[in-house]
Amino acid sequence: MRVAVVGATGAVGRTILQILDERAFPLDDLVAFASARSEGVRLGFRDDEVVVRALHDRWFEGVDLALTSAGGAVARQILPAAAAAGTVCVDNSSAFRMDRDVPVVIPEINPEALDGHKGIVANGNCTAITALMALGPLHKRFGLRLLVTSSYQSVSGSGMKGVRELAEQVDKLHEQIETLTRPDPQALPAGEVFGRTIAFNVVPHAERFDPEGSGFTTEELKMGNEVRKVLGIPDLVCSATAVRVPVVAGHAVSIYGRFESPVSPKEAREVLSRAAGLRVVDDPARDQYPTPLDAAGLDDVLVGRVRQPDGDDRALLLFAVGDNLRKGAALNAVQIAELLIER
Ligand SMILES: NC(=O)c1ccc[n+]([C@@H]2O[C@H](COP(=O)([O-])OP(=O)(O)OC[C@H]3O[C@@H](n4cnc5c(N)ncnc54)[C@H](OP(=O)(O)O)[C@@H]3O)[C@@H](O)[C@H]2O)c1
Repeated sequence: MRVAVVGATGAVGRTILQILDERAFPLDDLVAFASARSEGVRLGFRDDEVVVRALHDRWFEGVDLALTSAGGAVARQILPAAAAAGTVCVDNSSAFRMDRDVPVVIPEINPEALDGHKGIVANGNCTAITALMALGPLHKRFGLRLLVTSSYQSVSGSGMKGVRELAEQVDKLHEQIETLTRPDPQALPAGEVFGRTIAFNVVPHAERFDPEGSGFTTEELKMGNEVRKVLGIPDLVCSATAVRVPVVAGHAVSIYGRFESPVSPKEAREVLSRAAGLRVVDDPARDQYPTPLDAAGLDDVLVGRVRQPDGDDRALLLFAVGDNLRKGAALNAVQIAELLIER
């Protein structure tokens, strides 16, 4: 089995290499691709190194499986030809997620969606996966009808450049922290990735604003679109707010869900505690609840703060946190690949 990792030098690509190693993924040969900028870069893999090649037209020749994370524009350019030539591609970008022929798969939630794939399988959006790991089992038992989310998304969700931008701004501002009680807007650093100052701030703008003028960002629209597709609820009403926060890794999602059947927090905790890939961390009396620093580096999604709004026995509030680079991207992609092999 020859496996290609495309986008190998990126935040997701590097995590894919790590996870292929950790899970002893059954491959005979690994090839790593990135842009021409990275030609010749050496990345550690298992006890050895792999030399990154610049992506070229025939990159998929002899490749059985490709794990791709080089962004949507590259995916649109390179995946159809690779899939047509017989390379099965698991893609992390949003380029194909809404295509009818492309399943969005979370192995713990909808493994059956892999049946009949046509060569391209999409990994879900990192925030949607985090929410879906909790919503999937609850939907199965209680029937999800309405969803409202607010997400607190780490800077690594925008790749390595997002992490560097936060680090540079923290460096610049930490010496003048007292001035931030009355900041001079002209003196605040604003980088290319987040547009506004991300250090010591939160920015309610992830990706770009919907060109259709809905007022939502494209990141926010993905939540509803992907939850509807993965759970098979085409008429689900969903609204999402996505906020970038100065956290390095780990996306947190505050979830309000309304269900067809009555559900108590106790029943919800029972369902969630039996779900694969999910860990319930929910004991307010002992200050137990999930945070991004607890989830960073973990495979499981953590869920806690399970509550019910007064007077509505069909509604629940939850707080879920997942490592966006692992379950939100690389781990889920490798799990899809494992499922493909199993089948
Ligand atoms: N970060 C997350 O949490 C996350 C989660 C889920 C999904 N995703 C998706 O995964 C994809 C990658 O994200 P990332 O965070 O890993 O981004 P990143 O750190 O910016 O890495 C991007 C990768 O793509 C490569 N690349 C860029 N342009 C290319 C080209 N023209 N040809 C070949 N390779 C090219 C880069 O190579 P160079 O190093 O040579 O530039 C790098 O390896 C995106 O579609 C993103 O939306 C990310």
